[in-house]
Amino acid sequence: MKKIIYNIGTLAGILSTDVRKLEGEAMNHVECIDNAYLIVQDGLISGFGEQPENLDMASFAGAGEDSEYIDAKGGYVMPCFCDSHTHIVYAGCRDGEFRDKIDGLSYEEIAARGGGILNSADLLHETSEDELYRQSMERVEEIMAMGTGAVEIKSGYGLTVEDELKMLRVIRRIKETTPLTVKANFLGAHAVGRSYRGRQSEYVDLVCNEMLPRVAEEELADFVDVFCDEGFFTVEETARILEKAAEYGIKPKIHANELGVSGGVQVGVKYDALSVDHLEKTTDAEIEALRASGTMPTMLPGCSFFLGIPFGNAKGYIEAGLPVALASDYNPGSSPSGNMRFVMALGCIRMRLTPEQSFNACTINTAYAMGVSDILGSITIGKKANLIITRPVPSLAFIPYSHQTPVIEKVILEGKTV
Ligand code: NIG
Ligand code: FE
Repeated sequence: MKKIIYNIGTLAGILSTDVRKLEGEAMNHVECIDNAYLIVQDGLISGFGEQPENLDMASFAGAGEDSEYIDAKGGYVMPCFCDSHTHIVYAGCRDGEFRDKIDGLSYEEIAARGGGILNSADLLHETSEDELYRQSMERVEEIMAMGTGAVEIKSGYGLTVEDELKMLRVIRRIKETTPLTVKANFLGAHAVGRSYRGRQSEYVDLVCNEMLPRVAEEELADFVDVFCDEGFFTVEETARILEKAAEYGIKPKIHANELGVSGGVQVGVKYDALSVDHLEKTTDAEIEALRASGTMPTMLPGCSFFLGIPFGNAKGYIEAGLPVALASDYNPGSSPSGNMRFVMALGCIRMRLTPEQSFNACTINTAYAMGVSDILGSITIGKKANLIITRPVPSLAFIPYSHQTPVIEKVILEGKTV
């Protein structure tokens, strides 16, 4: 069945089929058609263009009797956001630590007191798989309504074999039961599990020799992740884990350079990571390491905003000719929001990206950073019809500029309104 979206004020984010990511200067441009239509067939974009005058609906674009029409009423139509870095499967929340943070404790100090990720792991341990799915689905519904059409979800609040598998099974269930495109990332090395305190090397053995084989056997992960940072896992430990994951053909996407210049970018590039994420603390050496690599530098401005730490140097990366992706990092400790429009706004307001750069960073480049830019992230014939329809807005810039105004009218995933 065909769906025809008509009266589109501006169709934004058009790319040709061969583009997988945008870097440097190319990030400055968002191709648009004003006064446009778009056709969806079997959940995919099958055509678009300028809308003819005196439109005859019955015969337009090969419409049949069962065709469905959606009036965009002069709004923008653009690809859904792709959120390539989240931790949305978690139990409860950490609102108590929010108070500690207001009182002046840093993320590292909260973690060092045994709070932080370990606090979430305790809560998750006490929560059944069904209840964890129910709580996570509330966040899934929330992000879909805000225009996210693809999401990467990490484990990493289990930190025991059984609890990591529990998390990954919940992620698989989300994949199977929602219209979102979901990728699962195994983050057993998010923190050292409580019962391994003081025995970090043995915990890394557990990740490599017990967790990874089970995860691979049950085909629960698309990617592997390590929190390679000061106070968490070292470059050597990261390399051990990535080496083992490579034996199972699991590609890395890693946490690097949030708390220190950790060497995480270099080890990520060495093991051909699809992305290295955070990058609040980087030097020219990281930019050099990323040149000529296929690794997407991904920054998480919601985390910088919430923790009050520096924002990544997105502008510098783009000026150096690199691509940049922006994701939400939705998690209970450092970024309790999955609002990608706010991420796009922070890209502009706090990282001084142009609206076009920020838009590309939240769509095609995040699609690349989660391995789906062949099927998502732009208006391209043959890609999934995961679309946002806005109310009429004066420009693309208005979307991040007036970032609290509720402009999203409709979200369409695989051709169906959610
Ligand atoms: O990406 N930095 C490591 N992991 C998450 C935070 C996890 C948590 O605090 O629960 C992040 O910021
Ligand atoms: Fe994260």
